Amino acid sequence: MSSLFEKLPKRENTRSVKWDMVKTLYGAEDVQPMWVADMDLPIAEPIRDALVNRAEHAIFGYTLTDDKLNQTVKDWLLRRHNWDIKKEWIIYSPGVIPTLHMAILNVTNPGDSVLIQTPVYPPFYDIVKSHDRKLVTNPLEYKNGAYEIDFDDLETKFKQGVKAFILCNPHNPVGRVWSKQDLEKMAALCLQYDVFMLSDEIHADLIFDGKKHIPIGSLSNEINNRTITCMSPTKTFNLAGLNVSYAIVPDKDIRVAMQKEYRKYGMTMLNAMGIAALDAAYTDGESWLDDLLTLLEHNRNILIEAFQERPEITAIRAEGTYLIWLDCTNMGLSHEDLKKFMQEEAKVGLNDGVSFGKEGEGFMRMNIASPTTYVQEGINKIIAALDKK
Ligand SMILES: Cc1ncc(COP(=O)(O)O)c(C=O)c1O
Repeated sequence: MSSLFEKLPKRENTRSVKWDMVKTLYGAEDVQPMWVADMDLPIAEPIRDALVNRAEHAIFGYTLTDDKLNQTVKDWLLRRHNWDIKKEWIIYSPGVIPTLHMAILNVTNPGDSVLIQTPVYPPFYDIVKSHDRKLVTNPLEYKNGAYEIDFDDLETKFKQGVKAFILCNPHNPVGRVWSKQDLEKMAALCLQYDVFMLSDEIHADLIFDGKKHIPIGSLSNEINNRTITCMSPTKTFNLAGLNVSYAIVPDKDIRVAMQKEYRKYGMTMLNAMGIAALDAAYTDGESWLDDLLTLLEHNRNILIEAFQERPEITAIRAEGTYLIWLDCTNMGLSHEDLKKFMQEEAKVGLNDGVSFGKEGEGFMRMNIASPTTYVQEGINKIIAALDKK
């Protein structure tokens, strides 16, 4: 494993959401942050070099996303995900969340129903509600420590008149990487009931156990033409502060409408550092990514094993992402007391399960994208606090 990943970088006083908001969020400075989805790991050296070079140029005028960048993205998707896209399908954006907002404005009208699969990444709720669309949920089924899609419920909801479906694949927070069979079933139902697919695949590159991520748009031309796929190098390469992402929009009319919508809000250009980072990541970042996946899989495994010894908490086995969903329901605490236990007794700063939906009651989310020693420290603190109970 790369020695780059052994030492915890100092992140306090860097205007880091994860580190510099600890006191505000958890009430004390000595709570160990293991929450928001960025990594306590230095970026790949080729990306760092590209950013230094770009900074040394010392001119930051208006930027272009050119054919070379499109080719780099196209090559990445073919090489990593076996998806042969056309360059003209790419639209750049400062983030996946802004893209999803634009997409909702374009493919639905006020009052339309939009479906999400809960528990899910909290901004999905706002994306639907902030544009006066109706939120419809298709809760995931939790059986024997694993999550599955309830297809009967999905079809019932579609029959009632859903206009768009925001899919999260790989799924944050439950860590599922949806199988080809699952994706084919969802695609078939979308086509049958004329539901537009918005597929958030930001975690696509972070997959474990030799599994493969399948972009839903790669399944067939039919579903591809009815899908906007959101992707980004920011989770994969720890670049969230550089605000760079892209969407794959095969339908020309929707693509033109999306571009018009972006212009309306002045979002026509990426920042220069984001472009440099995307280019370097997708050109020279793969060996760093291989090392990262080794680290993340190892951290996931030690976490699962540590809690296998404890009946109180189960760490759900994530197939992808670096976010682990902790089932703490056996602790027998109210949700408020569970949160208090984690922050005041264990002194770890996790994401509140309920922020992902009511199905998250009794659950917390832990970020394991840090040096192993740091993750181990967080596990030890939880176990020591459990021992004191
Ligand atoms: C599923 C999912 N989508 C989107 C985002 C954020 O995307 P962006 O920062 O590009 O808006 C996250 C961040 O954790 C995420 O987990």
